[in-house]
Amino acid sequence: MIRPAELIQRKRDGEELGDEELAELILGYARGEVPDYQLAAFCMAVYFRGLSSRETYVLTDAMIRSGETIDMSAALGRKVVDKHSTGGVGDKTSLAVGPIVAACGVPLGKMSGRGLGHTGGTLDKLESIPGYRVDLTLDELVAQIRDVGMAIVGQTGDLVPADKLLYALRDVTATVDQLSLIAASIMSKKLAAGAQAIVLDVKVGDGAFMRTLDEARRLAETMISLGREAGREVVCLLTDMDQPLGAAVGNALEVQEALDTVRGHGPADFSELVLDACAKLLSLSDLGIDEAEGRRRADAAVADGTAEATWRRWLEAQGGTADESALPVAPVHREVIAPRAGVVRALSAIAVGTAAVHLGAGRRTKDDSIDHAVGIVCRVKRGERVEAGEVLAEVHARTEEAAHQGVRDVLAAYELGDEAPVERPLLLEVVS
Ligand code: URA
Repeated sequence: MIRPAELIQRKRDGEELGDEELAELILGYARGEVPDYQLAAFCMAVYFRGLSSRETYVLTDAMIRSGETIDMSAALGRKVVDKHSTGGVGDKTSLAVGPIVAACGVPLGKMSGRGLGHTGGTLDKLESIPGYRVDLTLDELVAQIRDVGMAIVGQTGDLVPADKLLYALRDVTATVDQLSLIAASIMSKKLAAGAQAIVLDVKVGDGAFMRTLDEARRLAETMISLGREAGREVVCLLTDMDQPLGAAVGNALEVQEALDTVRGHGPADFSELVLDACAKLLSLSDLGIDEAEGRRRADAAVADGTAEATWRRWLEAQGGTADESALPVAPVHREVIAPRAGVVRALSAIAVGTAAVHLGAGRRTKDDSIDHAVGIVCRVKRGERVEAGEVLAEVHARTEEAAHQGVRDVLAAYELGDEAPVERPLLLEVVS
């Protein structure tokens, strides 16, 4: 029998915990035998003291063992690929990558999470589609990937229940941005869901959990080594999150932007990242092609409409409507106007993400509900020039009052100046 209070104390004092006791703490929590308040204190101790690589491995393994696992390739007789982001603002990449990769003939099965803090979650975005079911059973998940080529679900059936609980707890106890906790959370889901090749988008910048390139590299290396231990191929794209990705921030707005991108009309930065991720996933698949050919096929699937057809089949298979006019629309729209001429020197991702949470697009507490219609569309991004009076962004709000506050918040996120900022590419580095 472990004594949780003693483990919390030893971690608080910087000790490395033994395999069995750490695993038992996590499994006991998943069984409901260890209360939230003790796990919250434990996560805070980990936040300050960190976990060794052995402890990170044991934590990940215990989280996987808290539920079932799927051998997706055995079930489908194919190599299955997966993609995940460490979390950002305006990050709707998976929604666009899934149908493009599936349209190229590569099965994609993805288990996603909800929003954490100021970052949006893929599941919350998908739930803005009327009827969409995030909770497929394992049999339904496998059948849908076989029939349609893809599925994006929540922590389905009994996969990684420990992460589902911990994820929600960390979100409201300021313990999200800890490297080992993020690595274990992401990799437990990826390994349990059974994909052989995994592309991880590690966000870096003020809107990400990793603020510096060094921290992002360390997170990437930790996740790659957890994947390698389990015999999976993992590639990490380190990408900029100093400004929101694409234009839309907010659930239904992001679904619309992902669809526009699948049709070839998405914002340039976002479309480029989506196609890069697709090329990488296709090169890791069982098609036996390189990245350049992967990119050519991804471009073709967008251009000839097969990616959009896959989008429709995917949403309908999962109970959702593919009719975009059914997406919820906020009643109040207000423009954010440039107070002076100049160039956008910065557009703070965290400020835009927080403004979206205040509009109701994210949660402030574990049990908050989300307003899927509200959000922000950033019409002008870093490095672009504007005249005084031009529209910088649009705020989509539930009430006039919320819209006024949103306009003030978004304006404060823009830094206008006379000199162009130093150029920063979206794709900063690839680690494999
Ligand atoms: N995404 C996850 O799935 N888990 C985290 O802890 C952070 C981002």
